[in-house]
Amino acid sequence: MNTADEQKRASARKALEYVEDGMVVGVGTGSTVKHFIDGLAAMRDRIEGAVSSSEQSTTLLKAHGIRVFDLNAVGPLPLYVDGADECDPHQRLIKGGGGALTREKIIAEASERFVCIIDRAKEVELLGRFPLPVEVIPMARSLVGRKIVALGGQPVWREGVTTDNGNWILDVHNLRIVDPLGLERELNQIPGVVANGLFARRAADVVISAGEVRKQR
Ligand code: A5P
Repeated sequence: MNTADEQKRASARKALEYVEDGMVVGVGTGSTVKHFIDGLAAMRDRIEGAVSSSEQSTTLLKAHGIRVFDLNAVGPLPLYVDGADECDPHQRLIKGGGGALTREKIIAEASERFVCIIDRAKEVELLGRFPLPVEVIPMARSLVGRKIVALGGQPVWREGVTTDNGNWILDVHNLRIVDPLGLERELNQIPGVVANGLFARRAADVVISAGEVRKQR
C-alpha cells in the first residue's frame, strides 16, 4: 500500500468499525487520529461524544460538532482509539511524539479496549529507535536527565514545548528496550517524572496497521 498518510487513513477508517451507537469514545492525538476524528464526524449523531487526550484533538472534535466530555464525568470508557510512534509484536508501544503521552496514558488506562491505528513504518521488532518521550515537572528536568543517563539513555530536552499539563518533555535516544515493562516502571519511579511514553503495562488490545487488523505474535 501507498503513502504513509494513506495507510494512516485506512487504519482510521477500519477503527470506525469498533465504534458503537451511544458510545463515549476515547480519542487520542496525532495525524492518524485526525483521520479518525474526520470519520467520527460523519457518525456524530450516533455517538454520545468523546473524551479527548489533548487540546489539539479537543479543538478538532468541537469543530466537527462532537461533544467533548471530561473523563471524570463519564468514568470507564468502552473504547480508546489512538496512534503510536512504534509498535512491537506484543502490541507494546512508544507514544508521545506529539507530546500528549500523559493524557493518552490516562485514557488508555480508563478504557476497556484500546485500538491502536498506525502505518507500516511504526511496526518494529524492538522498541527504542524512536526517542522515548518522558514528561517531567519543569524543576526536575536536569535531575531526571541525569538519572536517565545512568540508565544508559541520552535525554534531549524538547526545548520550547510545554505540554497541555504545563510540563516539559525529554526525548530519550539510544535506548535498546529489551524489557519495556521494567523500563516503564523504572522511569515512573524517578521523582519528577509525570509519565513516560512506554505503553507496555497497558499495551494496545487491537493494532490496525495500514487498514489491516494485526494479530498479536
Ligand atoms: C501523540 O502524543 C502521540 O502519542 C501520537 O499518538 C503518535 O505520535 C502518533 O502520531 P501520528 O499519528 O501523527 O504518527
